[in-house]
Amino acid sequence: MRAALIHRYGGPEELSVETVPEPEAGPGRVLVDVTLAGLNYADLECRTGEYLRFPLPAVLGVDVVGRRREDGRRVVALLRTGGGYAHVAAPEAAHTVEVPDGVDDEQALGLLEQGATAYGALTLAGRLRPGDAVGVSAAAGGVGHLAVQLARELGASRVVALSSTPEKREYLLSLGADTVLDPADPDLAGRLAESGGLDLFLDSVGGPVLRAGLAGLAPFGRLVSVGARGGVEDAFTMGELTERSAGAQGFWLKHVLTDRALFEGVADHLFRLAAEKRVVARIDRTVPLSGVAGAHRAMAARETIGKVLVDVHREE
Ligand SMILES: NC(=O)c1ccc[n+]([C@@H]2O[C@H](COP(=O)([O-])OP(=O)(O)OC[C@H]3O[C@@H](n4cnc5c(N)ncnc54)[C@H](OP(=O)(O)O)[C@@H]3O)[C@@H](O)[C@H]2O)c1
Repeated sequence: MRAALIHRYGGPEELSVETVPEPEAGPGRVLVDVTLAGLNYADLECRTGEYLRFPLPAVLGVDVVGRRREDGRRVVALLRTGGGYAHVAAPEAAHTVEVPDGVDDEQALGLLEQGATAYGALTLAGRLRPGDAVGVSAAAGGVGHLAVQLARELGASRVVALSSTPEKREYLLSLGADTVLDPADPDLAGRLAESGGLDLFLDSVGGPVLRAGLAGLAPFGRLVSVGARGGVEDAFTMGELTERSAGAQGFWLKHVLTDRALFEGVADHLFRLAAEKRVVARIDRTVPLSGVAGAHRAMAARETIGKVLVDVHREE
């Protein structure tokens, strides 16, 4: 089969498309004939070795949509050990869900990994309640643009969306955000604190953005972190939380995946919202397998809006 893989950790130039043996299903795993693979920010950090260090050589990619080989059913699979940028993947059976007829491949793949992260962070970690004012950083990204839509669905009274370019902020207004802010605004904390502050701030950037989110919380507000972009300092003290009666919590999708009933429940909910077009994954672009390195560069350069897909059967 063909796959995009790395032989050593490093820049996008380390990604090469090669012919490799198909993976074996092994105990608890299934084979999936991949139609499309997804790109996630985590892939960039796996490529450099900063996040999950897969044994080398490694096929990157943590989410796919395709056909389960044993029964031909259409499934989305989340791959905690990579292997997505390939004709065939071997996910854990428990990390695979069937896609209902009313949801197409692009939407299913655009929604599951990043949508489950957004949904879990807002509800399981952030305990979002109707009427809450919600802030979202990197709001035009894969997780962020779904978090903005889900916050609205869950009854947020106000959504404040952070993104770095006027084009992305324009998009976020069209998505229903009430206020859009530039994360580089020198008074970001002050702007977040306007109108009484935020009840919940969902952050995936860390550093100064996370700290501004904390400063912008209303009393009893909650800060939820799903990650940070490399090399940023997140530290704040318990005293700073106490001063604001604030809470801080992390969220990792792994803890949804290890609970099959929870994972199925979240996936069902997202697919229902997708079938009813109440939440729509924006597909930024679909690149051929040979275009994965370029897509990594585009994501690192903050050029992408929504989800990037890889057509693993196309090479140019
Ligand atoms: N905890 C979990 O279980 C979990 C699961 C999935 C994803 N995540 C995390 O969620 C975040 C979002 O993931 P995603 O896949 O949806 O990616 P993404 O948000 O689509 O990533 C691209 C966007 O990140 C923003 N960004 C902020 N600082 C950046 C920097 N220093 N360099 C490059 N981009 C930067 C940019 O938006 P602006 O230009 O608008 O700032 C950029 O467009 C990541 O931190 C990821 O690790 C966590």
